[in-house]
Amino acid sequence: MPNPHIPVITIDGPTASGKGTVAQRVAQHLGFHYLDSGALYRLTALSVIRRDTPLDDEHALAKAAEHLHCHFNGAHIFLANEDVSNAIRAEEVGNLASKIAAIPTVRQALFGLQLSFRQHPGLVADGRDMGTVIFPHAGLKVFLTASVEARAERRYKQLIDKGFSANMEDLSKDLAERDARDSNRSSAPLKAAEGAYLLDTSAMTADQAVEQVLRWYAATKPI
Ligand code: DC
Repeated sequence: MPNPHIPVITIDGPTASGKGTVAQRVAQHLGFHYLDSGALYRLTALSVIRRDTPLDDEHALAKAAEHLHCHFNGAHIFLANEDVSNAIRAEEVGNLASKIAAIPTVRQALFGLQLSFRQHPGLVADGRDMGTVIFPHAGLKVFLTASVEARAERRYKQLIDKGFSANMEDLSKDLAERDARDSNRSSAPLKAAEGAYLLDTSAMTADQAVEQVLRWYAATKPI
């Protein structure tokens, strides 16, 4: 049973806002564990694609999430025993992840797994609903945003670095569609949690964003 007294920092925000990079660096700096909750939805999507699960069968989709055989080892993410760290970053997988993430039973199936990441000495969790639904009592909640242009550029670089082909126009369209879907769904929509600090990183380096989060965290701790 995860200990509710273990500190948690939540970093939520839209796709390609840079929250993953910031969250990982904050975790590294504090020696905390890191939860990339989007990876769990992406892993579910990849598993669904690989098994040809019918996309209109909500029960089968929830089962895929519930029986996700995944593990994390540093920056490497495994599905069964295959390293899928790059495969889950494909746009096709991200788009399907966003679609199946709108299904409440899929979200429910991933609930306990997310809580289990709360381990000593602490956790930094990034996603869409970390501060609103999964860890609503987190000591520090951050909502990280960036302009669509800045995000499209970041996603473009990410994809090219991973060896995927990418096109800025298609990416901007994809991002806007994904934002709308993630923000307008009825189950755990993307929104700033109550009490979250807002951080617009459009004109910031990752280091500056990390420093700001660490300053906020230092200010939340009892002296
Ligand atoms: O953060 P990401 O782009 O890797 O996430 C992929 C999709 O998963 C995203 O479009 C919506 C969904 N997601 C979610 O619904 N809730 C989360 N906590 C994290 C991701």
